Amino acid sequence: MVNTSTSAGLVGVVLLARHGDRLSTVYQDPATYNSTQGYLTPFGAQQEYQLGQFLRNTYLNPGSPSYIKGINTNVVDVDQLYVRADAGGGDVILDSAYALLQGLYPPTPNGTITLANGQVVTPPLGGYQYVPVESLEYWQAPSLTSWMECEYFQAHLGRLNSGVVFKDLTATAAPFLEAVTPYLNGLNNSFLNMWNIYDYLNVQYTHNKTFYNNFPKTLLDQARYFANQHEQNVFTDSVINGVGQIAIRTLWPEMLWSLGNMTLPNNKVKIALTEVDYKPFISLFNVTNATVTNPNISGIADYASVVALELSQDTQGQYNVAMKFKNGTDNELRTLQFWGSNSISLDKLVSSIAWSTINSTVNWCFSCNQTVLRGCSVFNYSNDPFLNPTSATGY
Ligand SMILES: *[C@@H]1O[C@H](CO)[C@@H](O)[C@H](O)[C@H]1NC(C)=O
Ligand SMILES: *[C@@H]1O[C@H](CO)[C@@H](O)[C@H](O)[C@H]1NC(C)=O
Ligand SMILES: *[C@@H]1O[C@H](CO)[C@@H](O)[C@H](O)[C@H]1NC(C)=O
Ligand SMILES: *[C@@H]1O[C@H](CO)[C@@H](O)[C@H](O)[C@H]1NC(C)=O
Ligand SMILES: *[C@@H]1O[C@H](CO)[C@@H](O)[C@H](O)[C@H]1NC(C)=O
Ligand SMILES: *[C@@H]1O[C@H](CO)[C@@H](O)[C@H](O)[C@H]1NC(C)=O
Ligand SMILES: *[C@@H]1O[C@H](CO)[C@@H](O)[C@H](O)[C@H]1NC(C)=O
Ligand SMILES: *[C@@H]1O[C@H](CO)[C@@H](O)[C@H](O)[C@H]1NC(C)=O
Ligand SMILES: *[C@@H]1O[C@H](CO)[C@@H](O)[C@H](O)[C@H]1NC(C)=O
Ligand SMILES: *[C@@H]1O[C@H](CO)[C@@H](O)[C@H](O)[C@H]1NC(C)=O
Ligand SMILES: *[C@@H]1O[C@H](CO)[C@@H](O)[C@H](O)[C@H]1NC(C)=O
Ligand SMILES: *[C@@H]1O[C@H](CO)[C@@H](O)[C@H](O)[C@H]1NC(C)=O
Repeated sequence: MVNTSTSAGLVGVVLLARHGDRLSTVYQDPATYNSTQGYLTPFGAQQEYQLGQFLRNTYLNPGSPSYIKGINTNVVDVDQLYVRADAGGGDVILDSAYALLQGLYPPTPNGTITLANGQVVTPPLGGYQYVPVESLEYWQAPSLTSWMECEYFQAHLGRLNSGVVFKDLTATAAPFLEAVTPYLNGLNNSFLNMWNIYDYLNVQYTHNKTFYNNFPKTLLDQARYFANQHEQNVFTDSVINGVGQIAIRTLWPEMLWSLGNMTLPNNKVKIALTEVDYKPFISLFNVTNATVTNPNISGIADYASVVALELSQDTQGQYNVAMKFKNGTDNELRTLQFWGSNSISLDKLVSSIAWSTINSTVNWCFSCNQTVLRGCSVFNYSNDPFLNPTSATGY
């Protein structure tokens, strides 16, 4: 294990945050996992806002052991933040990012300025702080919705849906599925539909009083258990460059570049945040072997969960990364292990992971056997690995 002693304060942090409570998504087809986002609720906005306050208390508080050196704690310096969110369909992910930022940098009268003519002006809403968020539409690039319209991912779903693991789970889940059917309002009760079943029940249980009064909570717990099993298979693979890991493979490049850039002398960005769905968490914990020492993180992360990759520099000048996780409203960031270590050098992280990542649209097209949709039609495939599929990355 590397020496984890650090000179005081972090250099920066890369965050992945899950969106907050929402209304149902449009049905996530078990054969394709194509779906459209739902809408953030006031409850979800509160969850994200509180996550922002938690992160403020962790990273922007000079008294905290995880304080980020040199970061503005009161009036935001927008150059110190890099925030991205998937903007497709409903608003749940993009608005979650805004709510989180409102907790991270709350309104402050210190944003007040004096104009040339002497007039004093405070921003609206008592000094609201405007932080730019780079929103990525579905049609702009596949990186934040990389599993959709990815043919090899659909082949992976096909193998799972007809494979022995799901056959066994179908048998184990049969009594649950039978018991829950009267509450499903006609939704298909096949185990293959387990994500939609859980999501429907969870949304109803949270927002529908009649449902809440009639539905046995134990069935919700079982739904969560089986949905965890289901999604854990869908968003992992036997190898770290497998297509089942695609949700994290397209996020890694920005994460590693952000960490790398934080080591450069002229760098300004100290917090790089990507607001996402539950999917990349599952893949991330699998590819880093974090689940070996913490088996209970292999399921779905709750709403407003966060993963933090904390970058520090030790007394020898080496840059190290620690991975921490807060599951929804838990009140602490727990340290996870990268391949058995509480912290590894940035160089080691990059050398372990970089080869498995998908860092551009054209590489995504190859990794998915997609030549038409999602911007893939502009590339030249005459040398393509489709003619020799074993050479395609990640199949
Ligand atoms: C998949 O979902 C996206 C965004 O929700 C949509 O634009 C696209 O048309 C869908 N594709 C299919 C094949 O349904
Ligand atoms: C505004 O800035 C001053 C001086 O920098 C500081 O003492 C004060 O705490 C700040 N106000 C708030 C609300 O943080
Ligand atoms: C339910 O979904 C399964 C798996 O997708 C499918 O095989 C089955 O035909 C569906 N049942 C109904 C009644 O649509
Ligand atoms: C609320 O739940 C009840 C009982 O399950 C159901 O009949 C009703 O359709 C639900 N309402 C909505 C808006 O989904
Ligand atoms: C900094 O980020 C850019 C992309 O934004 C990337 O190309 C470059 O490799 C990164 N630098 C380091 C040292 O990681
Ligand atoms: C990663 O996922 C694969 C496929 O589901 C599984 O076989 C493997 O045990 C997982 N690895 C870890 C470290 O959890
Ligand atoms: C998960 O496991 C960790 C230790 O491995 C433990 O601290 C934590 O309480 C567990 N969480 C749950 C929800 O069981
Ligand atoms: C998060 O906590 C929920 C219970 O609230 C649990 O079902 C789930 O497996 C946990 N997920 C992770 C990734 O720890
Ligand atoms: C990750 O965990 C698996 C067991 O799931 C093990 O076979 C593999 O050697 C581990 N990888 C590393 C790099 O430690
Ligand atoms: C992107 O990935 C490709 C293929 O894995 C690799 O050859 C290339 O160097 C990577 N580019 C960057 C900027 O990391
Ligand atoms: C990739 O797609 C092409 C059609 O575009 C198809 O002919 C080929 O069989 C596919 N390869 C695999 C391995 O599915
Ligand atoms: C596509 O690539 C092939 C092989 O590299 C090349 O011969 C051909 O000219 C290219 N086609 C176009 C339209 O650029």
